Amino acid sequence: MPDSKRAGHVRHGLPEPGTHGIADARSLPDESFEAGWSSIFLAGGLKERLLQTVASNLRLRATVPFEALPLHGVVLLTGLPGVGKTTVARGLADKIARVVGGLGPWAFIEIDPHALASSSLGRSQRSVEELFGQLLEEQAQRGPLVVLLDEVETILTDRAALSMEANPIDVHRAVDAALVGLDRLARRHPAVLVLATSNFADAIDPALSSRADMIVQVPVPDRDGRRAILEHTIASVAAAFPGAKQLLDRAVLDHAAEVSDGLDGRRLRKAVAAACANEHCDPERVTSADLYAALQTMAEQ
Ligand SMILES: Nc1ncnc2c1ncn2[C@@H]1O[C@H](COP(=O)(O)OP(=O)(O)OP(=O)(O)O)[C@@H](O)[C@H]1O
Ligand SMILES: [Mg+2]
Repeated sequence: MPDSKRAGHVRHGLPEPGTHGIADARSLPDESFEAGWSSIFLAGGLKERLLQTVASNLRLRATVPFEALPLHGVVLLTGLPGVGKTTVARGLADKIARVVGGLGPWAFIEIDPHALASSSLGRSQRSVEELFGQLLEEQAQRGPLVVLLDEVETILTDRAALSMEANPIDVHRAVDAALVGLDRLARRHPAVLVLATSNFADAIDPALSSRADMIVQVPVPDRDGRRAILEHTIASVAAAFPGAKQLLDRAVLDHAAEVSDGLDGRRLRKAVAAACANEHCDPERVTSADLYAALQTMAEQ
């Protein structure tokens, strides 16, 4: 369905961010999420495969019984900090709302894991139960829903790795409650998609990994990826400061991509900003030497 037809197709009754462990709540599709998605460069058609699999699974879940095909609608994105996991997850939520039609307006809810993982006895279990059992259940009844569990290891901590200090019983109970909640949502609501991200794949409870329909390791960008990220960042700076256009020279980009091995997308983008903080403090006068030096410094940090 074209976007124009979706105009006014807004999801009402969303929860208030900042309450009940909710970091963000909005209707989908969402233009800023879409812009984030298109700014992420991943090799090997990873984004496209992710979208295809999730869309296909949603179709399967709508028609094939859970007992035959236990799809939980859970996708786990793992990888080092700054490789684009959160941006991809939000972008995927937007894309899914655009390509999977006929279910009514989609909602997006992002959980604040730290608000749930409280240290006071019994509270995190209760918060998790309230979140899954009431808030998300109610939202799922209203229509299709994408839930983002960013830094999921905070909620679904690996129980086997817990020592019996620092309130572990409550943590155990909170993890159990989250798993029960996920199972219930998956069985009752085939149009609920849960996107989970983590920097620490080893710290996640295996029961969550087992429920994931797809586990995607988001890689640090390769040479072509680094070049594309640098080009995108520099082009955006040059749109405001045309003097920076000289950095878009093919040879400059090639060399910059070469010397930035190992840098993640976030640091690559920040290196462009660091290059602009040259001796003139003027992005109009940024040079290729500024860029190489900034990348070198980033790589050494
Ligand atoms: N592969 C990539 N292509 C383009 N931009 C990228 C890529 N990876 C990261 N970025 C940029 O880096 C920034 C950080 O991305 P994001 O917050 O999604 O990373 P993350 O993996 O969730 O990090 P963290 O684990 O620290 O939460 C964003 O501005 C994003 O556009
Ligand atoms: Mg993140």
